[in-house]
Amino acid sequence: MSKILVTGGAGFIGSHVTKILLDSGHKVVVLDNLSQGKKENVDSRAELVVADIRNTPEAAFKDVDSVIHMAGLIVVPESVKDPIKYADNNVIGTIDLLESMRKANVKSIIFSSSACVYGSPENLPIKEDAPVHPDNPYGASKAAIESFLQAYNANFGFNVTILRYFNPYGPGEMHQPETHAIPNFIKAALAKKPIPLYWNGEQIRDFIYIEDLARAHVDVLGQTGYNIFNIGTEKGVVVKDVVYEIFNILGFKVPINNLGKRLGDVQANYASSEKLKKVVGWQAKVSLSEGLKKTIDFYRSILK
Ligand SMILES: NC(=O)c1ccc[n+]([C@@H]2O[C@H](COP(=O)([O-])OP(=O)(O)OC[C@H]3O[C@@H](n4cnc5c(N)ncnc54)[C@H](O)[C@@H]3O)[C@@H](O)[C@H]2O)c1
Repeated sequence: MSKILVTGGAGFIGSHVTKILLDSGHKVVVLDNLSQGKKENVDSRAELVVADIRNTPEAAFKDVDSVIHMAGLIVVPESVKDPIKYADNNVIGTIDLLESMRKANVKSIIFSSSACVYGSPENLPIKEDAPVHPDNPYGASKAAIESFLQAYNANFGFNVTILRYFNPYGPGEMHQPETHAIPNFIKAALAKKPIPLYWNGEQIRDFIYIEDLARAHVDVLGQTGYNIFNIGTEKGVVVKDVVYEIFNILGFKVPINNLGKRLGDVQANYASSEKLKKVVGWQAKVSLSEGLKKTIDFYRSILK
């Protein structure tokens, strides 16, 4: 069993990853500046260090074997308005973290990257060797971090595993602002308000349930060298079909509010996760309908 430092562990995905690591017998230290995340999200079995990745206290690395690096700003439209904020927090922040790791002699990192690095893909499903050409500054920050990780692997012998998430969703997603489709659809429907839908819902996405996504982080612990894996269901879903499935589960409909185009969005993406399956046997297990039911239950419970 290992001791893992989870940056961004007070956020949506980090809190699920922390829980599954602890359930699997690992020890966890969460490092989060609480700019977005909340203390209450952190499992009580984990140690919480409130700090910024740009200034990680040396003590946070005590007995740590690996870092799972999830801390970052994630709002695509905000990154289009303020690219420097994303370069500073995400890119410089990660290099600061890598330098702190080097000083502490911790040389193993799993990084939360994104399908955004592919921009508008030439071929579907997207494989890991597809060209990297991000369409927005958030995606560019992920691509830049990936390059630095490759350099730390080549120059300093870091073991690096890059996980490119497609569209995670599930209980606990409470971003402020929320720019992701599924939480916005469900919250609007439960409040009997119109569903905010960009591009008339014609886009194609690969929605990956949070517990499947979190499990992949445990599965890749111990990988050595430099690795890149997509994490998706391999099923492209038309976004408006997600809305219809939500109506179906709820047993009622609300009007749809077509918001038109949104800067920085791509028309279609879905993953090939064949590589992750081949190397560690990981596969998405939760169907969209099952995942949506659990997610609707979560929002029902908090909106009561
Ligand atoms: N949610 C998605 O759809 C999605 C998709 C692809 C990739 N990702 C990546 O997964 C990771 C987690 O995303 P999430 O949805 O859980 O976001 P989140 O905002 O819920 O969590 C991110 C956490 O990082 C913390 N943080 C941000 N900057 C920090 C800094 N400088 N120092 C310390 N802590 C800092 C925030 O307080 C927050 O708790 C991010 O790196 C994100 O880019 C997310």
